Amino acid sequence: MRRDRLKASLARRVVESCLRYPYVWWIRPHIRTEIGKQRVRQVAFGWGYAPILVSRFLTLRDRVRILARFLRIDWNVLHAHRPAEIASIFRVLSSRFSKNDEIMVEAGCWQGGSSAKFSILCKVLGLRLHVYDSFLGVHEMGEDEWEHDFSGQYAAAEDVLKETLRKYGEPDVCEIHKGWFRDTLAARPVSFPVRAAYIDCDTAQGTLEVLQGVMPSLVPDGIVFSQDTHLPMVRELLADPDTWHRFGKNPPLIKRPCTKLAVFRFSGDPGERLPATVSFMSTRPNPTRKRYLG
Ligand SMILES: C[S@@+](CC[C@H](N)C(=O)[O-])C[C@H]1O[C@@H](n2cnc3c(N)ncnc32)[C@H](O)[C@@H]1O
Repeated sequence: MRRDRLKASLARRVVESCLRYPYVWWIRPHIRTEIGKQRVRQVAFGWGYAPILVSRFLTLRDRVRILARFLRIDWNVLHAHRPAEIASIFRVLSSRFSKNDEIMVEAGCWQGGSSAKFSILCKVLGLRLHVYDSFLGVHEMGEDEWEHDFSGQYAAAEDVLKETLRKYGEPDVCEIHKGWFRDTLAARPVSFPVRAAYIDCDTAQGTLEVLQGVMPSLVPDGIVFSQDTHLPMVRELLADPDTWHRFGKNPPLIKRPCTKLAVFRFSGDPGERLPATVSFMSTRPNPTRKRYLG
């Protein structure tokens, strides 16, 4: 079974790579708008949602409805994730319904494409969704902080998020926290039990600031998702046992179902069925990392 999933996941990656080059060379140059490019990419990546359809969570009719809403978001809202990543999060989170006022934290929302999808999932699971963002893009990155300088990228106003939630998501389960992570999450721990945290901020420093707010409130079977594990400095931070020891946790079980997305769990869960197709290898030691660990 596990081998089958591994094969399916590898097949997905091979097909995606084969489609990438014709797209980059022949199709992309002819499409002017970013949303147009995203719509074309969706043809290649849309089947990443398949695990939602085959999951045993909810009725087939409900799953089809959720999928239709996700596809509508993909068609209309520029975003920075792929269907396979959302499907992996769906599978992990749908292992149980919420209890005791639990919440999901999303750190980094841009135009709210991921927030709208999470709000739909949260509504079904009985969670509230707390969205944190500067609404000014990625923070100004220091020279020692980047493999790629994302400073100021992905800026979108709070109203854009609200509009996306209103049109395509479930705004009534959402709370928005505007500000830099250092002034919000890192300043005080989240005051609700955290069932899941999704971190998508493109920097190791931002990732650590989010963990500072989330880890003290993470429930024992809580889950951390990082959407930035294609970035060596983020990977290095998250692969370091010291990162977790400082929050009184043992290093987590790590699964990396997609190149960018990794899933961190702190208690072994026999129900865990994600394929770890991409290894979470640590990279060259980077002297600047200690800066974040303070
Ligand atoms: C890559 S985008 C998020 C994409 C979104 N999750 C999606 O899938 O469409 C990164 C987001 O993180 C936010 N961000 C980055 N660094 C931040 C920081 N230090 N404090 C607050 N927000 C930050 C940016 O404003 C931006 O909205």
